[in-house]
Amino acid sequence: MKTLGIETSCDETAIAVYDSEQGIIGESVFSQIKMHAEYGGVVPELASRDHCVKIISVLKEAIKDVDLKSIDQVAYTSGPGLLGALLIGESFAQGISSALNIPLIPINHLEGHLMSPVMEFPEITTPYISLLVSGGHSMIVDVKDRGDYQILGQSQDDAVGEAFDKVGKLLGLPYPGGPHIEKLALKGNPKSYDFPRPMIHSDNLDLSFSGLKTSVLYTVRDIENITDQIKADIAASFQQAVIDVLTKKIKKSVELSGRSNVIIAGGVAANKALREAIKELESVLNIRVYYPSLKYCGDNAAMIAFVGSLRSSDKIQVNGSSVRARWPLSELSK
Ligand code: KG4
Ligand code: ZN
Repeated sequence: MKTLGIETSCDETAIAVYDSEQGIIGESVFSQIKMHAEYGGVVPELASRDHCVKIISVLKEAIKDVDLKSIDQVAYTSGPGLLGALLIGESFAQGISSALNIPLIPINHLEGHLMSPVMEFPEITTPYISLLVSGGHSMIVDVKDRGDYQILGQSQDDAVGEAFDKVGKLLGLPYPGGPHIEKLALKGNPKSYDFPRPMIHSDNLDLSFSGLKTSVLYTVRDIENITDQIKADIAASFQQAVIDVLTKKIKKSVELSGRSNVIIAGGVAANKALREAIKELESVLNIRVYYPSLKYCGDNAAMIAFVGSLRSSDKIQVNGSSVRARWPLSELSK
């Protein structure tokens, strides 16, 4: 069975085809990052317009080796995300679904991130712990089964990616700050600044990053001449504070839940220092740690097509709209 997946929830226009026997057989992602970088963040109106402009060429690239008529169903991200951007993906999905007379399946973007490592590593079996860290979300989820997700803890304020982006801005780095901070941190000393590790000792699995970001803000404000080396030291110290908190919380979640598989997903999962630190827990806790390959950490349509293939029974009618700016994991069906 072939599922065409469409993702337009934020600033990536992405389309992919998942074949239940062969896996991903076509995919294409266009990132709008350069356009939004000029404004220091995603501009929703521009994002919607650009999805409109790019979606046909992204489709052509994704299906260059696939006969469109061989597609059995269309899955698309219907939330959470930017409403205008989601509507473009939905309209496009509705058009393909009605032209080919095939079913349409709305997919939750977060479920896409949570399940993407399973697409790549079929040996992963539920239950497992997932650390979902992106620009909009930071949560530790107990994936009990497909469609059965329990949030064990989540950020009470900024998402991890958001904190990376804001600190990037403070250091004068381009948007999004995450990858730039990672690069700069390689030249810095992570022990130079003793930034706070918010909630590291709390007895729950919740997270908080706004105090850490504010501490970086005060530090930067109080330095008269900020050299490149100072910036690198701040980047490294900030990144280390994030890693310390996330590693501690993952450790705790494994101890509390008794799960033996851990996956890290979402844009921040691309951070190599974080990947290495969590990988080190394998021998300490006797667990297996998995991450998506780099191209599947950020937003992509492969994860949407994959979840669509698992959710063939969720078909909807083509008329009407299912998009939702907010769509908590707790509201998903099994
Ligand atoms: O999952 P994603 O592509 O989009 C959302 O759904 O949010 O995540 C984007 C976020 C941005 O905040 C970006 O700065 C962060 O992921 N990010 C990173 C790295 N690469 C992307 N953060 C830290 N280190 C990285 N290497
Ligand atoms: Zn995402």
